[in-house]
Amino acid sequence: GVQPKIAPSMLSSDFANLASEAQRMLDCGADWLHMDIMDGHFVPNLTIGAPVIESLRKHTKAYLDCHLMVTNPLDYVEPLGKAGASGFTFHVEVSKDNWQELVEKIKSKGMKPGVALKPGTPIEEVYPLVEGHNPVEMVLIMTVEPGFGGQKFMLETMDKVCALRKKYPSLDIEVDGGLGPSTIDAAASAGANCIVAGSSVFGAPEPAQVIKLLRKTVEE
Ligand code: DX5
Ligand code: ZN
Repeated sequence: GVQPKIAPSMLSSDFANLASEAQRMLDCGADWLHMDIMDGHFVPNLTIGAPVIESLRKHTKAYLDCHLMVTNPLDYVEPLGKAGASGFTFHVEVSKDNWQELVEKIKSKGMKPGVALKPGTPIEEVYPLVEGHNPVEMVLIMTVEPGFGGQKFMLETMDKVCALRKKYPSLDIEVDGGLGPSTIDAAASAGANCIVAGSSVFGAPEPAQVIKLLRKTVEE
Protein backbone atom coordinates (compact mmCIF):
# COMPACT_ATOMS: atom_id res chain seq x y z
CA GLY A 1 0.00 0.00 0.00
CA VAL A 2 1.06 3.61 -0.21
CA GLN A 3 0.17 4.81 3.25
CA PRO A 4 2.64 7.29 4.70
CA LYS A 5 5.32 5.85 6.95
CA ILE A 6 7.38 8.35 8.87
CA ALA A 7 10.66 6.81 9.98
CA PRO A 8 12.99 8.83 12.21
CA SER A 9 16.60 7.82 11.60
CA MET A 10 18.04 6.71 14.91
CA LEU A 11 21.49 7.64 13.57
CA SER A 12 20.67 11.15 14.77
CA SER A 13 19.64 9.97 18.24
CA ASP A 14 21.73 9.66 21.36
CA PHE A 15 22.98 6.09 20.86
CA ALA A 16 23.85 5.87 24.56
CA ASN A 17 20.13 6.15 25.30
CA LEU A 18 18.74 4.26 22.33
CA ALA A 19 15.71 2.68 24.00
CA SER A 20 14.42 5.93 25.43
CA GLU A 21 15.15 7.80 22.21
CA ALA A 22 13.17 5.19 20.27
CA GLN A 23 10.25 5.47 22.67
CA ARG A 24 10.38 9.26 22.45
CA MET A 25 10.03 9.06 18.64
CA LEU A 26 7.12 6.63 18.88
CA ASP A 27 5.43 8.95 21.37
CA CYS A 28 5.95 11.76 18.84
CA GLY A 29 4.03 9.79 16.20
CA ALA A 30 6.72 7.83 14.34
CA ASP A 31 5.46 4.81 12.35
CA TRP A 32 8.82 3.09 11.94
CA LEU A 33 12.29 3.41 13.43
CA HIS A 34 14.97 3.64 10.73
CA MET A 35 18.15 1.82 11.74
CA ASP A 36 21.30 2.59 9.75
CA ILE A 37 23.67 -0.36 9.71
CA MET A 38 27.10 0.51 8.28
CA ASP A 39 30.23 -1.62 8.02
CA GLY A 40 32.99 0.96 7.53
CA HIS A 41 33.59 -0.51 4.08
CA PHE A 42 30.57 0.11 1.84
CA VAL A 43 30.48 3.57 3.41
CA PRO A 44 33.19 5.47 5.31
CA ASN A 45 31.38 5.21 8.65
CA LEU A 46 30.69 2.47 11.18
CA THR A 47 27.51 2.26 13.25
CA ILE A 48 25.57 -0.64 14.70
CA GLY A 49 24.79 -4.26 13.91
CA ALA A 50 22.62 -7.14 15.01
CA PRO A 51 23.60 -7.02 18.73
CA VAL A 52 22.21 -3.50 19.07
CA ILE A 53 19.03 -4.40 17.16
CA GLU A 54 18.60 -7.36 19.51
CA SER A 55 19.00 -5.12 22.56
CA LEU A 56 16.56 -2.53 21.22
CA ARG A 57 14.02 -5.23 20.33
CA LYS A 58 13.78 -6.09 24.04
CA HIS A 59 12.48 -2.58 24.69
CA THR A 60 10.05 -2.05 21.82
CA LYS A 61 7.58 -3.79 19.52
CA ALA A 62 8.07 -1.09 16.86
CA TYR A 63 8.80 -1.79 13.19
CA LEU A 64 12.61 -1.68 12.87
CA ASP A 65 13.38 -0.52 9.32
CA CYS A 66 16.97 -1.67 8.82
CA HIS A 67 19.04 -0.05 6.06
CA LEU A 68 22.11 -2.13 5.31
CA MET A 69 25.01 0.00 4.07
CA VAL A 70 27.32 -3.00 3.99
CA THR A 71 29.36 -4.78 1.32
CA ASN A 72 28.10 -8.28 2.17
CA PRO A 73 24.41 -8.03 3.10
CA LEU A 74 23.90 -11.80 2.88
CA ASP A 75 26.05 -12.23 6.01
CA TYR A 76 23.60 -10.09 7.98
CA VAL A 77 20.31 -11.80 7.12
CA GLU A 78 20.37 -14.55 9.70
CA PRO A 79 21.76 -12.45 12.60
CA LEU A 80 19.31 -9.62 11.94
CA GLY A 81 16.39 -12.00 11.59
CA LYS A 82 17.23 -13.52 14.96
CA ALA A 83 17.73 -10.07 16.46
CA GLY A 84 14.18 -9.06 15.55
CA ALA A 85 14.62 -6.73 12.59
CA SER A 86 11.38 -6.00 10.67
CA GLY A 87 12.60 -4.65 7.33
CA PHE A 88 15.88 -5.57 5.63
CA THR A 89 16.91 -3.16 2.87
CA PHE A 90 20.13 -3.97 1.03
CA HIS A 91 21.96 -1.95 -1.63
CA VAL A 92 21.62 -2.95 -5.28
CA GLU A 93 25.23 -1.88 -5.97
CA VAL A 94 26.54 -4.88 -4.01
CA SER A 95 23.81 -7.40 -4.83
CA LYS A 96 23.85 -7.73 -8.60
CA ASP A 97 24.73 -11.43 -8.49
CA ASN A 98 22.81 -12.66 -5.46
CA TRP A 99 19.70 -10.56 -4.99
CA GLN A 100 17.39 -13.51 -5.57
CA GLU A 101 19.04 -15.54 -2.84
CA LEU A 102 19.03 -12.49 -0.58
CA VAL A 103 15.32 -11.78 -1.04
CA GLU A 104 14.42 -15.40 -0.46
CA LYS A 105 16.44 -15.58 2.77
CA ILE A 106 15.12 -12.26 4.05
CA LYS A 107 11.53 -13.47 3.57
CA SER A 108 12.27 -16.85 5.11
CA LYS A 109 13.42 -15.04 8.27
CA GLY A 110 10.13 -13.13 8.39
CA MET A 111 11.54 -9.76 7.33
CA LYS A 112 10.33 -7.40 4.60
CA PRO A 113 12.85 -7.18 1.75
CA GLY A 114 13.80 -3.82 0.29
CA VAL A 115 16.40 -2.58 -2.15
CA ALA A 116 18.29 0.72 -1.87
CA LEU A 117 20.18 2.70 -4.45
CA LYS A 118 22.78 5.43 -4.18
CA PRO A 119 22.17 8.81 -5.87
CA GLY A 120 24.36 7.89 -8.85
CA THR A 121 22.75 4.51 -9.54
CA PRO A 122 20.17 4.45 -12.36
CA ILE A 123 16.62 3.50 -11.39
CA GLU A 124 16.46 0.83 -14.12
CA GLU A 125 18.77 -1.30 -11.98
CA VAL A 126 15.99 -2.05 -9.50
CA TYR A 127 13.27 -2.92 -12.02
CA PRO A 128 14.18 -6.61 -12.18
CA LEU A 129 14.03 -6.80 -8.37
CA VAL A 130 10.56 -5.26 -8.27
CA GLU A 131 9.25 -7.42 -11.09
CA GLY A 132 10.86 -10.75 -10.21
CA HIS A 133 8.74 -13.71 -9.17
CA ASN A 134 10.13 -13.16 -5.67
CA PRO A 135 10.05 -9.36 -5.60
CA VAL A 136 11.32 -6.83 -3.10
CA GLU A 137 8.54 -4.99 -1.27
CA MET A 138 10.16 -1.56 -0.99
CA VAL A 139 12.61 0.59 -2.90
CA LEU A 140 14.75 3.07 -0.95
CA ILE A 141 16.00 5.94 -3.08
CA MET A 142 18.94 7.64 -1.38
CA THR A 143 18.61 11.39 -1.55
CA VAL A 144 22.17 11.96 -0.22
CA GLU A 145 25.35 9.90 -0.52
CA PRO A 146 25.02 7.19 2.15
CA GLY A 147 27.22 7.35 5.24
CA PHE A 148 26.23 10.32 7.35
CA GLY A 149 23.25 12.22 8.65
CA GLY A 150 22.81 15.95 8.23
CA GLN A 151 23.62 16.25 4.52
CA LYS A 152 21.87 18.33 1.86
CA PHE A 153 18.92 16.80 -0.02
CA MET A 154 19.73 16.14 -3.70
CA LEU A 155 16.74 17.37 -5.69
CA GLU A 156 17.90 15.63 -8.88
CA THR A 157 17.13 12.22 -7.30
CA MET A 158 13.41 13.04 -7.55
CA ASP A 159 13.43 12.06 -11.23
CA LYS A 160 14.01 8.49 -10.07
CA VAL A 161 11.15 8.66 -7.57
CA CYS A 162 8.80 9.97 -10.29
CA ALA A 163 9.79 7.25 -12.75
CA LEU A 164 9.35 4.52 -10.15
CA ARG A 165 5.98 5.79 -8.93
CA LYS A 166 4.68 6.04 -12.49
CA LYS A 167 5.60 2.42 -13.14
CA TYR A 168 4.48 1.00 -9.76
CA PRO A 169 1.47 2.86 -8.29
CA SER A 170 1.24 0.78 -5.11
CA LEU A 171 4.92 0.16 -4.30
CA ASP A 172 6.42 1.40 -1.04
CA ILE A 173 8.96 4.04 -2.07
CA GLU A 174 11.26 5.32 0.67
CA VAL A 175 13.47 8.40 0.53
CA ASP A 176 16.40 8.89 2.87
CA GLY A 177 18.68 11.87 3.40
CA GLY A 178 18.08 15.56 3.95
CA LEU A 179 14.31 15.21 4.38
CA GLY A 180 12.52 17.79 6.50
CA PRO A 181 9.93 20.57 6.29
CA SER A 182 11.79 22.33 3.46
CA THR A 183 12.23 19.26 1.21
CA ILE A 184 9.16 17.13 1.90
CA ASP A 185 7.04 18.84 -0.78
CA ALA A 186 9.40 17.72 -3.53
CA ALA A 187 9.60 14.16 -2.21
CA ALA A 188 5.87 13.79 -1.64
CA SER A 189 4.86 15.21 -5.01
CA ALA A 190 7.36 12.91 -6.74
CA GLY A 191 5.55 9.99 -5.11
CA ALA A 192 7.56 8.91 -2.07
CA ASN A 193 5.46 7.54 0.80
CA CYS A 194 8.06 6.29 3.32
CA ILE A 195 10.01 9.20 4.71
CA VAL A 196 13.25 8.83 6.67
CA ALA A 197 14.24 11.91 8.64
CA GLY A 198 17.15 12.18 11.05
CA SER A 199 18.51 15.62 11.81
CA SER A 200 15.29 17.48 10.96
CA VAL A 201 13.36 15.47 13.56
CA PHE A 202 15.98 15.07 16.29
CA GLY A 203 17.15 18.65 15.90
CA ALA A 204 13.67 20.12 16.24
CA PRO A 205 12.42 21.61 19.50
CA GLU A 206 9.17 19.72 18.89
CA PRO A 207 9.79 16.53 16.89
CA ALA A 208 6.07 15.69 16.99
CA GLN A 209 5.29 18.81 14.94
CA VAL A 210 7.83 17.85 12.28
CA ILE A 211 6.53 14.27 12.08
CA LYS A 212 2.98 15.58 11.77
CA LEU A 213 3.95 17.94 8.95
CA LEU A 214 5.81 15.21 7.06
CA ARG A 215 2.80 12.90 7.33
CA LYS A 216 0.33 15.56 6.27
CA THR A 217 2.37 16.45 3.19
CA VAL A 218 2.57 12.79 2.08
CA GLU A 219 -1.19 12.33 2.64
CA GLU A 220 -2.16 15.31 0.50
C1 DX5 B 1 22.61 8.22 5.65
C2 DX5 B 1 21.51 7.43 6.33
C3 DX5 B 1 20.33 8.24 6.69
C4 DX5 B 1 20.61 9.42 7.59
C5 DX5 B 1 19.56 10.45 7.34
O1 DX5 B 1 23.56 7.33 5.17
O2 DX5 B 1 21.08 6.39 5.48
O3 DX5 B 1 19.32 7.41 7.21
O4 DX5 B 1 20.62 9.08 8.94
O5 DX5 B 1 19.83 11.57 8.14
P1 DX5 B 1 19.32 13.02 7.74
O6 DX5 B 1 17.84 13.00 7.75
O7 DX5 B 1 19.91 13.89 8.78
O8 DX5 B 1 19.87 13.31 6.35
ZN1 ZN C 1 19.28 5.20 6.06
